[in-house]
Amino acid sequence: MEKLVIEGGLPLNGTIAVSGSKNAALPILFASILLDAPLTFHNVPRLRDIRTTNALLRVLGCDAEFTGETGNSVNVVPGALQPEAPYDLVKTMRASVLVLGPLLARLGQAKVALPGGCAIGARPVEQHTKALEKMGATFELDSGYIVGHCKKLHGADITFDFPTVGGTEHLIMAAALAEGETILRNTAKEPEIKDLANFLNACGAKISGHGTDTIHIHGVAALRGKEYSIMPDRIEAGTFLAAAAITGGECLIEGCPVEELTAVMAKMGEMGITLEPCDQGVRVRRNGTLRGVDMTTSPYPGFPTDMQAQIMTLMTLAEGSSTVEETIFENRFMHVPELSRMGADIRLAGSRAVIRGVKHLTGAPVMASDLRASASLVIAGLAAQGTTHVQRIYHLDRGYEHIEEKLEKVGARIRRMQENA
Ligand code: EPU
Repeated sequence: MEKLVIEGGLPLNGTIAVSGSKNAALPILFASILLDAPLTFHNVPRLRDIRTTNALLRVLGCDAEFTGETGNSVNVVPGALQPEAPYDLVKTMRASVLVLGPLLARLGQAKVALPGGCAIGARPVEQHTKALEKMGATFELDSGYIVGHCKKLHGADITFDFPTVGGTEHLIMAAALAEGETILRNTAKEPEIKDLANFLNACGAKISGHGTDTIHIHGVAALRGKEYSIMPDRIEAGTFLAAAAITGGECLIEGCPVEELTAVMAKMGEMGITLEPCDQGVRVRRNGTLRGVDMTTSPYPGFPTDMQAQIMTLMTLAEGSSTVEETIFENRFMHVPELSRMGADIRLAGSRAVIRGVKHLTGAPVMASDLRASASLVIAGLAAQGTTHVQRIYHLDRGYEHIEEKLEKVGARIRRMQENA
């Protein structure tokens, strides 16, 4: 296993380029199953989760490989579609469950391993299956697999119990090829959902209302192949804004999507961070001390749960007290004991954290537990006095492309090593 070793206390200065969005690329790549035509995707981040996605697409009968000059394109060539997504792949990436609806739409049958819970919560998928049932699918559970059948998926009027990102994406895909009109209500509005719908529309789908809480989809008989460029990763961009700000440096976050980061940038502004949108992205700097703020995570356009751990790291060094209320996942505070090991003053009570700013953090060996917790520990390490060893960085490699190269380029002292070194 590998770890990152960070010598903290150096300001970051220069330009960091934002990669393509992991959470947009995953459903869009899975949507390839809906097509019987070759596709080329650009701006795909080279991440472990994308390699898992390509591997799953190959098991399902499509050829899917990274290609292109920068290695950030993926070609998908369809083959004889297979209905089974095995546990070995699904267990490493929960988003794999999104192949269920597309397989039903194309084959009328699917057998997909049920994803288990993960470190941040139980994460069931009953909103996905209940909605697919309304479209004519039947399901049974067989030895840990969801086995689904349908004659032909048909349009339905579906109201989600709450806005689910994966559920909304899943049903958009299934409805794209269903017979008749599907209306999805109380949908999630995350930008990655818009990117998926834009891709499908470019291939001939008839989707409207994406980005709002009601989406209309008129099923079409077939979709045609396209080249498509994945949107920039708003969470990676937000993570770099936090990294630059905590070190007191000045960076241009190139390709930073401003509109999609409104809530994050507003909260950082309240903390005393200067953020200037420009043609190339966003310039970020901090001159004075950070100020404590209160923050609650909520579905888009609210403050994203995927930036909660990173902003909490900023709060550990902010003047006065801050509070964080996590409303999306029941167990997304695993960075807290690790930040405490570095000297942070954080008290937890259920879904609420109270953070009292300290003068400085101190480098320590810490353990990454999930993707965004890992990012928060890297940010803490950049600001801390002394050396931080962030262990179990395979979590980080799921969602941050070349993170140590990008940070090193702007002045961080960070290197990847074997854990026992
Ligand atoms: N939920 C249910 N039942 C369902 C579906 C969801 O109870 O049928 C619960 C989940 O357990 C969770 C909440 O509803 O507590 C929100 O889940 P949602 O379906 O909205 O999230 P997701 O699709 O599983 C995506 C991102 C997450 C991100 C969330 C929220 C991808 C691949 N994952 O997950 O990203 O945190 O939306 O914005 O797009 C990450 O990138 O680090 C990450 C975890």
